[in-house]
Amino acid sequence: MSAAKVRKAVFPAAGLGTRFLPATKAQPKEMLPVVDKPIIQYGVEEALHSGIRNIVIVTGRGKSAIEDHFDVSFELEHHLESRHKLELLAKVRQVSDLIDVSYVRQKEALGLGHAVNRAQELVGQEPFAVVLPDDVIDAETPCLRQLMDVYEFFNAPVLAVMEVPKESISSYGCIDAEPVSYNGSRNKVYRIRDLVEKPKPSEAPSNLAIIGRYILTPDIFECIGKVQPGAGGEIQLTDALRLQLRSRPIYAVKFEGKRYDAGDKLGFLQATVELALKREDLGAAFREYLKGLNLR
Ligand code: UTP
Repeated sequence: MSAAKVRKAVFPAAGLGTRFLPATKAQPKEMLPVVDKPIIQYGVEEALHSGIRNIVIVTGRGKSAIEDHFDVSFELEHHLESRHKLELLAKVRQVSDLIDVSYVRQKEALGLGHAVNRAQELVGQEPFAVVLPDDVIDAETPCLRQLMDVYEFFNAPVLAVMEVPKESISSYGCIDAEPVSYNGSRNKVYRIRDLVEKPKPSEAPSNLAIIGRYILTPDIFECIGKVQPGAGGEIQLTDALRLQLRSRPIYAVKFEGKRYDAGDKLGFLQATVELALKREDLGAAFREYLKGLNLR
């Protein structure tokens, strides 16, 4: 049976962003700009470039700036139009014109699994993507597209993973997995044997860390409903996947590209510097500026 098409992407954005306080006290971290776009827009554009235009954003209290960002701003558009600032007008309209966004609230930040579960009604009985907006991924083929290709091949849930130094594994979900053949190679796709959330380095089954991109199937909702709060007292998506693994195979892809954890101060700075250097309009001047810094 061929795999059903992935048409929707869920963006959990109801977390408290404590790593970025005080900036996130009155402003969602998903709206912090990397160069000139809010963090969340990178993920939304990645979904669009992967062929997904139905976006479901899970929000919470204090997150209305996200809704405003993807909404039409008549006042701003009128202002730009009347002053013939058409290039800026196109930039403002670019993404919101192409996507269909719905919102659902997570009243309390009870964990990533809980946030995903809030999207159940909007997702319905079809496969869907999950994008953690904090993870900004720079890749030639969008990371979600890489996952969707593997999902279509195996007709099974797929997670994005990357190798991390063993001492950092306790910040991530970690997989125990065996490589499988895919597109003539055996070092890109894995069949998962087990998963564990935030293991101690000495207990981690591998150095393969789960990052913020998933293709899931609707049976995950039932699994989320069954799991008890895990690491940090939160309903963990990793624990629900572990349960789902008992009834079906799940795969992981070592994606090609560079991932920045923009929800973390250092990762945010790295994303800002590297993405600014790649920009046609800014890169050359910014490079000159950086060269002039007396770095030792
Ligand atoms: P994080 O743990 O990175 O985000 O969750 P956080 O909790 O907002 O940040 P810190 O750790 O306090 O700094 C990953 C993603 O899952 C969402 C977050 O908004 C973020 O995009 N999330 C997390 C929810 O939507 N609900 C939750 O209950 C937890």
